[in-house]
Amino acid sequence: MVKKNVAIIFGGVSVEHEISIISANSILNNIDKKKFNPIGIYISKKGILQHCKINRKEKKLNFKPYESSISVTPGGKKVFLLNGERPIKVDIIFPIIHGTTGEDGAIQGFIKILNIASVGSDVLSSSLTMNKILSKDIVTKNDIKTCKYLIVHEKSLDNDIKKVKKEIGTPCFVKTSNLGSSIGIYKINNFNNIKKYIRKAFKFSNEVFVEEAVIKAQEIEVSVFGYKDEIFVSTPGEIKPSSEFYDYKAKYVDNKSELIIPATICNKNKSLEKKIKSDAKKIFKELKCEGMARIDFLYGKTKKSNSKGLFFSEVNSIPGFTDISMFPKLINYSGITYRNLITKLINISIKKFKDEKKFIKSFTN
Ligand SMILES: Nc1ncnc2c1ncn2[C@@H]1O[C@H](COP(=O)(O)OP(=O)(O)O)[C@@H](O)[C@H]1O
Ligand SMILES: [Mg+2]
Repeated sequence: MVKKNVAIIFGGVSVEHEISIISANSILNNIDKKKFNPIGIYISKKGILQHCKINRKEKKLNFKPYESSISVTPGGKKVFLLNGERPIKVDIIFPIIHGTTGEDGAIQGFIKILNIASVGSDVLSSSLTMNKILSKDIVTKNDIKTCKYLIVHEKSLDNDIKKVKKEIGTPCFVKTSNLGSSIGIYKINNFNNIKKYIRKAFKFSNEVFVEEAVIKAQEIEVSVFGYKDEIFVSTPGEIKPSSEFYDYKAKYVDNKSELIIPATICNKNKSLEKKIKSDAKKIFKELKCEGMARIDFLYGKTKKSNSKGLFFSEVNSIPGFTDISMFPKLINYSGITYRNLITKLINISIKKFKDEKKFIKSFTN
């Protein structure tokens, strides 16, 4: 069998740039090299595309970008051209940029123009799932609960805060609609400092909202992968953050948060487990996800509810993808190895690409 060239595109103009580098190197170390030939394409923070060397550092491989940038010729299989060097043939692209430009449909649109198979969701689904407000609205229409929220505006901030006080109360969370890694997210326990935090959030995004908190939330995450009618939903897992909530430090810095598989509530409450899984599948479909997604929920009480409930929180279309990240770990719990998962995702992208080719692209009356 001829090996397929898989270009792993990583880095990107995103605050999650560094996390993407870790995810890409993890794929590089684990991709089945009998089937695929990995190629590294790094996007610098300035947006420059650079081809990568593959180095070995101790026992691990790692991508090292060449200094020179590369140019791209869409429409053929030899899409990436090295500056003055020979073209690199690319069969499939595996974008692994988290957050802005990677999960919001931007890189997906770029790959579409190149006319090449791409791992993960398409443009529309990526943009929808990246926007927390839009995804909440669609999910709510499908009878799945999510925390109550209000959008706030810089121009009418004082009035909007009054409304938040009345309709949301404390504790609550200030959030931006389109970031990840807990950046621009602040827990508010009293209203004295809410304005300051809303202003901080506006430095990251032009869309900010305030949402009611799930008190002592249990953080439930589910991995979903597949395409069309063949959708696999993992056993739910749980995060026990090391901080008051799962902030940046608890996610990436102190290494003290716990990943629990299966989620503790699922041991006691099988009907809840069933509901989480069926909601996750429904959300995957309704938000038109393809390939992969990690779907996150919060379980607990809010100030306004007397009993505990399940609240949809967000979808990550390109979730953390190192071999110790929750997404592959949950799938691994069902017996699918990290290596096999990478192969499956690539194969889905080929299938999807073939399906898209079936559509008529020229029309004469
Ligand atoms: N409504 C909420 N109630 C309780 N905790 C929340 C709420 N919203 C966010 N959090 C906490 O903040 C973290 C990050 O929020 P999330 O919406 O998942 O953003 P991100 O896309 O940055 O991961 C969550 O994992 C959780 O710990
Ligand atoms: Mg999250």
